[in-house]
Amino acid sequence: MTSPGRKRVLSGITATGRLHIGNYIGAISMWAENQDQYENFLFVADLHALTIPEAVVGANLRARVEEIFALYVACGIDPEKSTLFVQSDVHQHAELGWLMTCATPVSWLERSTQFKTKGKIADVSAGVGAGLLCYPALQAADILLYDADYVPVGEDQQQHVEMSRDIAKRFNALFGSTFKIPDVLIRKSGSRIMGLDDPTAKMSKSLAERQAGHAVALLDPPDQARKAIMRAVTDSQPAVDFEAGLAPGVDNLLTILECLTGTTRGQSQGHFDGARYGVLKAAVADVVVGRLSDIQDRYREITGDRAQLAKLLAHGAERARAVAAGTLARAYHACGLRS
Ligand code: TYM
Repeated sequence: MTSPGRKRVLSGITATGRLHIGNYIGAISMWAENQDQYENFLFVADLHALTIPEAVVGANLRARVEEIFALYVACGIDPEKSTLFVQSDVHQHAELGWLMTCATPVSWLERSTQFKTKGKIADVSAGVGAGLLCYPALQAADILLYDADYVPVGEDQQQHVEMSRDIAKRFNALFGSTFKIPDVLIRKSGSRIMGLDDPTAKMSKSLAERQAGHAVALLDPPDQARKAIMRAVTDSQPAVDFEAGLAPGVDNLLTILECLTGTTRGQSQGHFDGARYGVLKAAVADVVVGRLSDIQDRYREITGDRAQLAKLLAHGAERARAVAAGTLARAYHACGLRS
């Protein structure tokens, strides 16, 4: 599993809402594709899910966390090749998170787009928790604990990874060279899948909870997924016209199709130029439903064996802790908490 010389990857998904095809295309599929090449550390960010506590009150958070964990495996992440774990099972995340919080200027945190947008929704003046502001410091701890070389994410997380780099540099400048500076890894195409109901908004877990037809969740029944795609917003033209330029909704459908089938935009042009939107949508729906059905079959198998799932959770946490403990000790030593 751990082979020196192999570059290390760290990434995760926050345990809020249901995973959708945007998460799959922008992040999970990239992790699966790279797992032979890199040493993957992939986790479910459950501590991050508490940054808007109102959103998890009354929810069975651990059940949701285990659903996401099982989905990683169902999407093709091999728990032997990759280290899969849950953030709160590795206590070093919270501990290094505090060191990172102390090393991060408040002005950097206030610039976070996520804080600005989510803070607006949650209404900062009405008492939003400080965790929402400090979120990028915990994310930096997640990444730096594993001396990650690469952090594969969708476009919306690029700013947070850049902030992790800045926080690492600042800690190193304050306390001496301690952390490796990670690089972000982003898909050339598919790093920002848009909402099916509104192709000007990024497909998001939270919008999907409020707007039917916004996203296709990985565990959606096939007929519901097909319906959402067949109703996707395109434009007022009747057919795909590459020459005249593609409306955002059409571009989004083509991107989904290309990412899932490994085809190019040139191939799409040959295939769909002049096609009525209904034809394009049916093709996208077939591909998406086919992929969901593979994922869901595997998901049922994995969640059907609770004992094996518990073993995978424990095994992954143990492997992650072995690495995280060494880095945390290094950081404690660097800042003088340990001699
Ligand atoms: P989260 O849970 O919002 O998203 C998980 C991953 O999915 C990507 N993604 C998308 N990609 C393409 N199109 C979309 N519409 C789309 N929506 C989401 C995200 O970019 C991300 O890669 N803060 C992180 C979780 C996290 C993390 C970390 C990530 C915590 N610690 C350390 C990397 C490293 C988050 O909330 O992602």
